Amino acid sequence: MTVFCLGSINADHVYQVPHLPAPGETLAATGFQTGLGGKGANQSVAAAKAGSETHHIGAVGADGAWTIDALQGYGVGTDHVRTSEIPTGHAIINVDPEAENAIVIFSGANYDQSETGIAAALSGGKPGDWILIQNETSQQITAAKAARSKGVKVAYSAAPFDADAARDMLPFADLLLVNEIEAAQLSQALGVDVGDLPVANVLITLGAKGVDLVDTETGEMISVPAFSVNPVDTTGAGDTFAGSFVSGLEQGMSDRDALIRASATSAIQVTRVGAATAIPDAAEVQAFIADQ
Ligand code: RIB
Repeated sequence: MTVFCLGSINADHVYQVPHLPAPGETLAATGFQTGLGGKGANQSVAAAKAGSETHHIGAVGADGAWTIDALQGYGVGTDHVRTSEIPTGHAIINVDPEAENAIVIFSGANYDQSETGIAAALSGGKPGDWILIQNETSQQITAAKAARSKGVKVAYSAAPFDADAARDMLPFADLLLVNEIEAAQLSQALGVDVGDLPVANVLITLGAKGVDLVDTETGEMISVPAFSVNPVDTTGAGDTFAGSFVSGLEQGMSDRDALIRASATSAIQVTRVGAATAIPDAAEVQAFIADQ
């Protein structure tokens, strides 16, 4: 089985700052790193590192060859990453001493997805496969429809949050992934309780409190507590969770086991600086769970 991901690919520029900048403030960073990011790329790396055959669908500019090399280095298939005339997307990420961040993205090539490229990428899709989709590219609904026509299940991470985009995507999603704030925003925008959102399954990440998975058809909820760690950078934690969790589903794990493994993967990831670069592999995650 396969995990596909239609997703953003960014060059992340990460600055350690004494506090998140206030309006009009000029602030000296105490550290700087650059590396692979983008919600989609992070999800693909997490799925591949969790052991799934993973194929990324995306777009970078001519300046983004290194991001393709990096994805391949993590075991992600890149045959369907196209080269656009638009520069590669990037993100400016400020991280404070409490591991909180503030992110500005430039979408660049991420909004230059090809409808025919997406169809070609998903032509071999089959029941049992999954596709991960977020809000940092164009053509999400095209991809979701193409996936479903092949029996591929759709996991939709509604980030960065946009109520209209989420409303449009939900009819084509099997699993919605949101954080607590996004869940509240979406239920307010649609005028329904979270448990009545029009999608079969809703996964709500609650930060240090853990995660809830709600089956909106039966009303059943599985709650898994978070592992306790000392975070240094929470950038990409939700993406890591999403990629790892969907990989678990694709590998036939129970919902609870997939949630526990995804929680452990994110717990390790936030103890390191960076997004995709900070994601642990399956062996490290297993050892971490065994130690708890
Ligand atoms: O979710 C974290 C990601 O958001 C970063 O890697 C950055 O590129 C932005 O897309």
